[in-house]
Amino acid sequence: MTSVTDSQFDTAGSPRRIVVGVGGGIAAYKACSLVRSFTEAGHHVRVVPTESALEFVGRATFEALSGNSVQTGVFADVPQVPHVRLGQEADLVVVAPATADLMARAAHGRADDLLTATLLTARCPVLFAPAMHTEMWEHPATVANVATLRSRGVVVIEPASGRLTGKDTGAGRLPEPDEIAGLANLLMERPDALPRDLEGTRIVVSAGGTREPLDPVRFLGNRSSGKQGYAIARLAAQRGARVTLIAGYTAELPDPAAVDVIRVKTAQEMKVVVDKAATSADAVVMSAAVADFRPSTVAAAKIKKGADEPDSIPLTRNDDILAGLVQARRDGDLPAGLRIVGFAAETGDADGDVLTHARAKFARKGCDLLVVNAVGEGKAFEVDSNDGWLLGTDGTERALAHGSKSLMASRVLDAVADLVSASSGGGAAT
Ligand code: CTP
Repeated sequence: MTSVTDSQFDTAGSPRRIVVGVGGGIAAYKACSLVRSFTEAGHHVRVVPTESALEFVGRATFEALSGNSVQTGVFADVPQVPHVRLGQEADLVVVAPATADLMARAAHGRADDLLTATLLTARCPVLFAPAMHTEMWEHPATVANVATLRSRGVVVIEPASGRLTGKDTGAGRLPEPDEIAGLANLLMERPDALPRDLEGTRIVVSAGGTREPLDPVRFLGNRSSGKQGYAIARLAAQRGARVTLIAGYTAELPDPAAVDVIRVKTAQEMKVVVDKAATSADAVVMSAAVADFRPSTVAAAKIKKGADEPDSIPLTRNDDILAGLVQARRDGDLPAGLRIVGFAAETGDADGDVLTHARAKFARKGCDLLVVNAVGEGKAFEVDSNDGWLLGTDGTERALAHGSKSLMASRVLDAVADLVSASSGGGAAT
């Protein structure tokens, strides 16, 4: 009998074993950052490139970054049976970049190199991050191969749009490694987090904080990072929706792949853009931290210290965008089927706890779903994790267990998909 070692992975102490498959495209260089982000997070990584991927990035680079040897064929290390065991032992397989050729081979169940053999033996979540020219991405052969892979449970993420290899631009760009890593981490937290259940829907998401100018250098703002709204927009696009993200000021966040991003500065600007986008949307998710007030006047020149300095700043109430959407739907100015989701960032106080305040806000706003976050003491703002509740109009109050903002986004989108599907008579794909 052949003697084999315990594992294809160097597993000391790490909970997760990740295979990073690399196809032969120029974006193969981005796989290096992806491997690095997994190893830095403590995961054990085996890189399995195709032969042509090694035309772009050398074997030694992948070996150094992963700390493991790298093979492309099934005839190296035969006693270890890597073509079977790599896939069997993996907790996650991520293929980035997934070329048109590699997806065609995977869709047809080929096993003519180590990567395709690994894909056939893997029973864990499998994520493909495609990268190719727009013509190849849109070709009916590729479209059919992607559909086949998705129908078998493979997560094929949407490529980004932008600069391709040459001077051309379009859909087919590999999403940034951080974005791929974020989606991969989500699949490890929740393997069923990326169904294609929002295909054919249009979702508008607002995110970040508005800034209300006081003079040319000062503003009233808030601490919203925009991370939760960006996570919702990103995942909605990866679940098949056409997504418009209306972003105020945020932490430095890359535009999510396959999402139209519109930037705004003030609450008044955000209202104009959200109202317009809502007319053709199936759902609006208002996760932005919209300023409730703005300075009543904006000084044309910087306000100086001295005899004329103001001792107070008069404020004017901004329109409530969310309540305005609900009212417009009631008045018939927006489609009756539009689903409207609000957020509530609450702290408890002498008048009641977080949920008491949230229930009152839900009743006041009249939206279809309220996502409640407890804030303060290092919670929710500027951090990467969150927890809370989902309040529904049917009286349901679902607790959202603590987890990453991506995990929270996936739970919110489950509820949005249910609402949209119910409102369209079950029209959204499942
Ligand atoms: N919101 C809005 N327009 C505003 C203020 C808030 O659309 N001018 C939306 C937010 O995007 C969020 C929800 O309303 O979805 C709740 O925001 P929050 O600030 O918690 O509620 P407020 O109504 O401002 O209540 P509070 O008095 O607690 O600040």
